[in-house]
Amino acid sequence: MKQNDPAALREQVLAALLMADGYCSGAELAERFGVSRTAVWKCMEQLKGSGCTIEAATNRGYRLTAMPDLFCVPYFQTLVQGCRIPWQAQHLTETGSTNTVAKRLAAEGAPEGTVIVADRQSGGKGRLGRSFHAPMGGLYLSLVIRPELPLTDMMKVTACAASAVHCALQDVGVTAQIKWVNDLFLNGRKICGILTESSFNAELMTPDYLVIGIGINLHPDPHLPEALKPIMTDLTTETGSAPLRCVLSAGILRHLETFLAGIHAHTFLDVYRENSCTIGKRVRVMLDGVPCEALAVGYAEDAGLIVRCDDGSEHVIRTGSAEIL
Ligand code: BTN
Repeated sequence: MKQNDPAALREQVLAALLMADGYCSGAELAERFGVSRTAVWKCMEQLKGSGCTIEAATNRGYRLTAMPDLFCVPYFQTLVQGCRIPWQAQHLTETGSTNTVAKRLAAEGAPEGTVIVADRQSGGKGRLGRSFHAPMGGLYLSLVIRPELPLTDMMKVTACAASAVHCALQDVGVTAQIKWVNDLFLNGRKICGILTESSFNAELMTPDYLVIGIGINLHPDPHLPEALKPIMTDLTTETGSAPLRCVLSAGILRHLETFLAGIHAHTFLDVYRENSCTIGKRVRVMLDGVPCEALAVGYAEDAGLIVRCDDGSEHVIRTGSAEIL
């Protein structure tokens, strides 16, 4: 921790409260972080100002009894300890797009495992040049990986990420469906979108880096635009609660690194297939540049969508999206 950095001290104190089993002694916190007891007390006051409920008891110390969903980097780091990829988060209260920040850092040499999390985005990006509505109350994260993969595996990476989000939600008791190729749905409406972007090394024909951006709607947005109401929803509305962003992000990253490690063996495919809300549906896709209605019948090993046209011919779709009819 940087000396005299009140924000860093506050984050460390919050992490200590989150991990404590009961009360945390003010004197012990002061000693652990090399600051005065007054500095610890000031942190508690600031955390209360941010919406935390902290009880103070004589001779026992402080206890966190409730908190808003603050993204606490030191706490997140404890949750990803022991991971194969050295995940290292940076938290921003607001940015244009976490993908843009992560791509800039990756281009400047940021290592694999760099994670950018924001409380809100003013210019969230979606696939196919669309925008992604990203107000307060969601989880918006982008991560940098540097895998040695051929260009043809890019769709698999997005499918790994969708499968990882599915599994992390399943860990907290929520079963979401995966819509090809990059969306997760709950009760027929979207709760998550994924955007994978890359920078290619033309000589090696592999990516220099990949940035995977994941946006999950956790809480209702009181200002949700009318046009999005029929198609978007959030975890709290659908299930009554939402996990802490630190916990959900760490869960996603743990599942993601497992799926990425098994990407050549297609270990993501079982989850991706079994939880698909696309397979078995009639869809509108682009076939050789022409819009066409067909039945989605399965996934190829590279996560391409297999469709059967009315004339019985089968095709694998690897670009664009599939509109469920
Ligand atoms: C889509 O629905 O088409 C993809 C949406 C991806 C949204 C996430 S939020 C975090 C990251 N930053 C962005 O600007 N986009 C992704």
